[in-house]
Amino acid sequence: MRLKNKICLITGAASGMGRAACDIFYQEGAKIIAMDVREPEKKFHDGIFFIKADVGNSQEVSHAINEGVQHFGGLDVLYNNAGIFLETDRSVVETEPGTWEKTLDVNAKGIYLVCKYGIPHLIKRGSGSIINIASFVALVGCSVPQDAYTASKGAVLALTKSLAVQFGPKGIRANAICPGPIETPLLTQWLLKKPAEKAKRLNRIPMGRFGQTKDIVYAALYLASDESSWTNGASLVVDGGITSNYF
Ligand SMILES: NC(=O)c1ccc[n+]([C@@H]2O[C@H](COP(=O)([O-])OP(=O)(O)OC[C@H]3O[C@@H](n4cnc5c(N)ncnc54)[C@H](O)[C@@H]3O)[C@@H](O)[C@H]2O)c1
Repeated sequence: MRLKNKICLITGAASGMGRAACDIFYQEGAKIIAMDVREPEKKFHDGIFFIKADVGNSQEVSHAINEGVQHFGGLDVLYNNAGIFLETDRSVVETEPGTWEKTLDVNAKGIYLVCKYGIPHLIKRGSGSIINIASFVALVGCSVPQDAYTASKGAVLALTKSLAVQFGPKGIRANAICPGPIETPLLTQWLLKKPAEKAKRLNRIPMGRFGQTKDIVYAALYLASDESSWTNGASLVVDGGITSNYF
């Protein structure tokens, strides 16, 4: 088992990639603190410690991390997966401040808060892994823009590098994953519902299919495990080749 007894905090655990991570990490022997702003639709495995919290709310995050650490006795992995992608998010000239603020609150401030309250526990251990979920849209421009989302994911990449440099000397590594389009509710609930929009994106993916949740979780599994003990400050692109596709 690749994560035997590692205590992993996974945010956005109720759905999509976070939910898949809970299942796969559990099978690999991890002890999981699953955090989400809403209850999961499907029950977690026995032993997974679920706690409801909004990653953008300082008090809720601090409380949730304390509860989780008390429950399992420590913390080894911060898996910052929670994120939102709003239908009202478009070009800067069309996007309203409320959409911008809400997106940045979850996608960027959420990671800041989990790191703020989580890293001191990793420091106590003298080791740890921080996994931040960014996106391929932080790497390439898009003529069908979602600018708040893109800016939030750029922030995730920049912050990851700063964390890698600051906390590497303490045995803590920080890496980002840039997923391409993955079939989760985040995309399927609105963007991929429209056949023309779906075809437009599918055409750009050399592998000829959208990603599945496990395509990303297996990269995260590597980053959570000791196999990645010298991987620090990386942005792992897992995208079926979409960002390599000039034509
Ligand atoms: N699906 C994609 O194509 C894609 C591509 C690149 C990156 N990502 C990123 O991957 C991550 C996971 O996305 P997903 O596709 O699994 O989405 P999803 O919508 O299926 O799951 C996201 C989860 O985050 C939770 N969440 C939302 N706001 C929260 C908050 N304030 N506090 C705590 N939890 C909150 C939701 O309740 C949900 O359970 C996100 O950061 C997303 O931006 C997704």
